[in-house]
Amino acid sequence: MRAIAVSEYGATPAPMNLPRPEPGPGEILVKLVAAGLNPLDWKIADGMLKDSVDVPFPLILGQDGAGVVDEVGEDVTRLRHGEQVYGAFLDAERGLGSYAEYALVRDDGPVARMPEGMIYTQAAAVPTASTTALAMVEEARVDTGQTVLVVGATGGVGQSAVQLAARTGAKVIATARDDMAGTMRRLGADETVDHSKGDLNRQVLAVHSDGIDAVLDVVSDTTAVEHIAQMLRPGGTYVSTTWAVNPDAMQARELRGVNYQGKPTAELLDRLSDLIDAGALRVRVEHEVPLEEAAEALAANRAGGARGKTVLRV
Ligand SMILES: NC(=O)c1ccc[n+]([C@@H]2O[C@H](COP(=O)([O-])OP(=O)(O)OC[C@H]3O[C@@H](n4cnc5c(N)ncnc54)[C@H](OP(=O)(O)O)[C@@H]3O)[C@@H](O)[C@H]2O)c1
Repeated sequence: MRAIAVSEYGATPAPMNLPRPEPGPGEILVKLVAAGLNPLDWKIADGMLKDSVDVPFPLILGQDGAGVVDEVGEDVTRLRHGEQVYGAFLDAERGLGSYAEYALVRDDGPVARMPEGMIYTQAAAVPTASTTALAMVEEARVDTGQTVLVVGATGGVGQSAVQLAARTGAKVIATARDDMAGTMRRLGADETVDHSKGDLNRQVLAVHSDGIDAVLDVVSDTTAVEHIAQMLRPGGTYVSTTWAVNPDAMQARELRGVNYQGKPTAELLDRLSDLIDAGALRVRVEHEVPLEEAAEALAANRAGGARGKTVLRV
């Protein structure tokens, strides 16, 4: 099958012809139509799992995908041949990922029926970013009447986080450069602050002088987190996807600090399908390119400036 893989950590992702995986007991083989790109993909190609997983090479890249159930192994009960599904297909221990014609997932793994109103290229953009956003909003216990700042709001996770935080009734402040301020408001942000135009705290505190209740942050490093956290009121929560929070230091200041490690699940995907079909969550596909252009798409994502999701057509 056609796939995009790396022959070693640090190598340029390249098209390869690799064996089609066979579903074992409890496994589902999915013929992918689209793969969603996440920063995780180039981080793994760089060697993020080097010390934690014994990865075989070539390693097929990619976590997110959408396609059709092609074959099911023994004991699979939840999904059937021909069903349209989306999910997280990365299996680094076996060198398998979603940038390929076929991928495996366990019947009890992170796979679910696609939202009815979506096509494959949209559905492939959902799993990692939107399950992360949903979990972050819940982890922060965002609620009506609170004020929440989303840092990194214009990217894949951030756009879903803005919409899901706004649904709780909280007031949402989104970071956005000028070109994205209007989009952020249409997604539900009450206010925007431009991180390229000076200190975030100064901009936020100019309107919210008594502070804010929660920060959902997908970009900041430890130094930036410490600074931004100064805006939180006692009892506030800081959730970071970049593992930049020091929970003990936060606790000492009567704050709750959470380093979120995402794990898409079938349950989260089912909930996202319901939200999408109810019109409560939209996902913006910014770039759609052929699978063979994965290396260029990954390089572009690494360079920054995402304005939505990138999807590879398999
Ligand atoms: N721990 C987990 O489980 C988990 C799960 C999902 C994602 N993540 C991580 O979360 C991060 C974001 O993922 P993503 O998919 O949303 O990335 P993305 O789609 O590439 O978006 C990042 C966004 O952040 C903006 N940005 C960059 N620097 C900023 C700053 N200083 N202030 C405000 N906004 C800024 C970028 O726009 P500009 O460049 O124009 O500023 C871009 O729109 C990645 O590092 C990813 O690996 C972790």
